[in-house]
Amino acid sequence: MESNALSIDFAGLNLPNPTMLASGIMGYSAESFHRIAKSGAGAVVTKSVGSQPRTGYANPTVVQAESGIINAMGLPNPGIDVFTEEIKFSKTILRVPIIVSVFGYSAEDYAAVAKKAADAGADAVELNVSCPHVKQTGAEIGQSPKLLAEIVQQVKAAINKPLIVKLSPNVTDITVLAQAAVEAGADALTAVNTLRAIAIDAETQMPILANKKGGLSGACMKPVALRCVYDIADQYEVPIIGCGGVSNWRDAVEFLLAGASAVQIGTAVADDIEVFQSITKGVENYLRKKNARSVKDIVGLAHRK
Ligand SMILES: Cc1cc2nc3c(=O)[nH]c(=O)nc-3n(C[C@H](O)[C@H](O)[C@H](O)COP(=O)(O)O)c2cc1C
Repeated sequence: MESNALSIDFAGLNLPNPTMLASGIMGYSAESFHRIAKSGAGAVVTKSVGSQPRTGYANPTVVQAESGIINAMGLPNPGIDVFTEEIKFSKTILRVPIIVSVFGYSAEDYAAVAKKAADAGADAVELNVSCPHVKQTGAEIGQSPKLLAEIVQQVKAAINKPLIVKLSPNVTDITVLAQAAVEAGADALTAVNTLRAIAIDAETQMPILANKKGGLSGACMKPVALRCVYDIADQYEVPIIGCGGVSNWRDAVEFLLAGASAVQIGTAVADDIEVFQSITKGVENYLRKKNARSVKDIVGLAHRK
């Protein structure tokens, strides 16, 4: 096995290993990203930031589900102008790439926020397109291939850093959205964001979350996220980050075999901040056991005919 078997060139980003912190889990502070990097993450993704500060939804914003959680935070964030200071500071203390997650309400909005993030030093930008559609109540921006392509094109024109598009699983055929993103200029895809879900209390006979519906994450969604990665990798040669239910090395290996070249970890970080280290160690042992020289060697193997 090569000495740097775990390091990977992902869409121009040099990652020491294929694990990343998923968006939304550790907020916005440089210190918490530093803590995550020290725990062994190969890159960190910030919580999604928009053009203006937002307070988010009222409590409860999180509810426990079986083998997972449902959250509806409402994108609370300090706004990009305040956050650029934290990005600059992060760059002085982090030795791994910082990927800034961006959300917006229009293509112009996305592009303006992405540009400010890139100018402040973000190593890459990830687009969160699982936000509400301004014109269609209940729909997500990332459900419309046309709107997605428009956003990706404008962001791509505004920045000269790698552009990662994080797809929503709440679609009939994720490959249609993947195609729209790639043709519009995405350098890589993250698959996937949370699954639309609801929890209802049998006693109060009402939805538990203040926002009623939220996004399901954690172990229970892994088979769905894995299928999304597999479907995209079956049709496109784009670099993919698998996300959804990764909590141990075996999960990470499954995503690599499905066609991802890196994984993001969200919900599992809340249980164990050292999860990055244990996954990396486990993947390394697996590569050795399978006589693979590097992570690259096992990417997409589940597609063999
Ligand atoms: C509390 C919480 C907040 C999240 N906030 C964001 C966010 O701001 N932007 C985003 O793109 N995804 C967000 N996500 C989704 C995660 O990044 C990830 O896609 C999802 O949780 C699936 O991965 P996991 O099963 O490892 O948690 C959030 C997830 C959770 C649980």
